[in-house]
Amino acid sequence: MFTYDIYAPWYDLQNEMDDVEFYLDSLREYGGPVLDAGCGTGRLLLAFAREGYETAGFDTSQEMLERARKKFAAEAPDVRERAAISFGDMRSFQLGRKFKVGLFGCNTFQHLLTNQDQDQALQSMYNHLEDDGILLLQTTNVRFHEHDPDVLYHRGREFNPETNQWVDGSYVYHYHQHLQIMQFTLLLDIIGEDDRISRKQIVLNLRYTFPPELERILASNGFALEALYGDFSRNPVSRDSPWIIAQARKRRLNI
Ligand SMILES: C[S@@+](CC[C@H](N)C(=O)[O-])C[C@H]1O[C@@H](n2cnc3c(N)ncnc32)[C@H](O)[C@@H]1O
Repeated sequence: MFTYDIYAPWYDLQNEMDDVEFYLDSLREYGGPVLDAGCGTGRLLLAFAREGYETAGFDTSQEMLERARKKFAAEAPDVRERAAISFGDMRSFQLGRKFKVGLFGCNTFQHLLTNQDQDQALQSMYNHLEDDGILLLQTTNVRFHEHDPDVLYHRGREFNPETNQWVDGSYVYHYHQHLQIMQFTLLLDIIGEDDRISRKQIVLNLRYTFPPELERILASNGFALEALYGDFSRNPVSRDSPWIIAQARKRRLNI
């Protein structure tokens, strides 16, 4: 995805998540290998491989993948050998192997904008899971009451040690409610030495999904919902939860 090619140098700086222990706990319970669909810069892949799990990840952004590859190149050989990183689309990937656990982490599933896209991605994941395999799918719980639409919010100023630059971030939401798509625009004002500001505009269209709908989508693609959490401490989903995290199990289709 080209948007992420622009965002890649800033992604890790701006996307620290508290999800790693949650996924590692699941791997301790169910075992590997684990597939990370839309693995981006390898944030989760690296944590899994370091803990000794066989991992695979794919993504459509070459710049994000390049960062993942660089991270692994700096690791010990045994960690490097545990990870397979490739270019691939969530809707059509074919890796030729099966996994115990598959995940759509960090809002990745929200990039699937249509019902058909969602179904294709879930079917592709289904085909890559072992019998009884576990799917973990996390999305944002859209809190309309927290962000007024079409208002520019200041995110703050951050220093990127990699590029040696300060960046001033702002963002705005626009809701296409009839499509269940929120358009999230992130403005990155990168401050140059000569006081010239270079502006990068990251526009992401993100489909949102509500819990009962998610259960139905999972069921119609061969997954039985086992648990639904509102955060990575496994609290139930409420109006104010930051996330919707589904744990589902692959079941045999009666077709
Ligand atoms: C929010 S990032 C999450 C990255 C990573 N999973 C993480 O946890 O940090 C979403 C990722 O999904 C990728 N992506 C978007 N659409 C995709 C698609 N159709 N197939 C594969 N990857 C896709 C983007 O390139 C981006 O790297």
